[in-house]
Amino acid sequence: MNASHSDVRILQGQTLSFRADPFVVGPDAAIDYNSDGAVAIRAGKILEVGPRRAVTGRFPGAEVEAYPGDLIMAGFVDCHVHYPQIDIIASYGEQLLEWLEKYTFPAEAKFADPAHAADAANRYLDECARNGITTASVYCTVHPGSVDALFTAAQARGFAMAAGKVMMDRNAPADLSDTAQAGYDESKALIERWHGKDRLNYVVSPRFAVTSTQAQLEAAGALWKEHPDTLMQTHVSENVYAIEHAKSLHPYAKSYLDIYDKKGLLGPGANFGHAIHLLPEEIARLCESKSGISHCPTSNLFIGSGLFDMRGLRDCDQPVAVGLATDVGGGSSFSMFETMKTSYEISQLLHYNLHPAKAFYLATVGSAAVMRLDHRLGNLRAGYDADLIVMDLASTPLIAQRMRAADSIFDALFVQMILADDRAIRATYVAGRKAYARG
Ligand code: GUN
Ligand code: ZN
Repeated sequence: MNASHSDVRILQGQTLSFRADPFVVGPDAAIDYNSDGAVAIRAGKILEVGPRRAVTGRFPGAEVEAYPGDLIMAGFVDCHVHYPQIDIIASYGEQLLEWLEKYTFPAEAKFADPAHAADAANRYLDECARNGITTASVYCTVHPGSVDALFTAAQARGFAMAAGKVMMDRNAPADLSDTAQAGYDESKALIERWHGKDRLNYVVSPRFAVTSTQAQLEAAGALWKEHPDTLMQTHVSENVYAIEHAKSLHPYAKSYLDIYDKKGLLGPGANFGHAIHLLPEEIARLCESKSGISHCPTSNLFIGSGLFDMRGLRDCDQPVAVGLATDVGGGSSFSMFETMKTSYEISQLLHYNLHPAKAFYLATVGSAAVMRLDHRLGNLRAGYDADLIVMDLASTPLIAQRMRAADSIFDALFVQMILADDRAIRATYVAGRKAYARG
């Protein structure tokens, strides 16, 4: 036996991981929590998670980083975000279709410039690290260079990121439009250049049925079929006007989701953003096809789209895979705490209580599952990638005071999801390396 473990690092603090789905087994049976715990990591992987004495005793000579009182858990996974929209976050006064025209498309047009794209990609990854987001499913722009910029920056920092070039061949400005053929060819070249390199995955990304012709959706379906281990992302049933518009452009389909279904865009690894105004048959089809959905709560409120039915989609007999997402810049925050809080508040309006165990699960394991990565990240488990956050549970005077009355891990988690922001992220580790430390 190796007596010295100088290549092992041990993080000590409270630890939280999930052993099962809290929507299925309930919060108590779902979590593994150590009030005095430790995580051993080596070469970018988690070796062991458990009580501090047991873990520390197993690896004598390991380097120890003590975070007394802090909570160590998996990094957050944001399963739907638009990095090119970082500079139009908090844009006033419009709902989806007008918001796209007025703010989004002009911002995305700037990504024809590779230097602009590289700068935005780096600022985006800084925000991720500062907010404890270690993996995301990212929409780039129509420009292949916008994907190169994001993947280049993510690769240099060791992030596990999924991303794709947006495909749009109608109802978009000319300088943001491709064609069915060009969208296919450029996406295919990007798959060949990036998919499976280091920790990067490609996502076939037809923007939505309003900005793609039938031919383009068909091409996207064909491309995904040719590369079945890539992912697929698009938007569905976000805004009532967009639903009518999409259906009028695709009259052969029975519903908004059916537009995509007819083109082979449903299945494991398909990630539908928003999914707010769904018909019962659309929900049934999502479940049956094992497609996933991204719940984007701050966006759904900020651009006035509607209320996501967590009970009807996830806490039910035929659940759909759901992940939690910031959807910046329709979304108004990079904070997963803010995102969980807004999800809780939306659920309140629908008379459903989103338990903190379920919210944290959706923000980690749930999103990882939508991205088909839950076998290797999104949880604190031996063998998983060492993407971790260290959470200061008393990051503001108000939180510190409220925490004095917290009598369980669930109450502590609830206080964080309602009151915390990026100041609660003390450190973010990406593949075992410290990617961020609060100053
Ligand atoms: N639907 C189509 N494109 C977008 C986008 O960029 N953001 C949001 N929220 N919805 C969309
Ligand atoms: Zn979106």
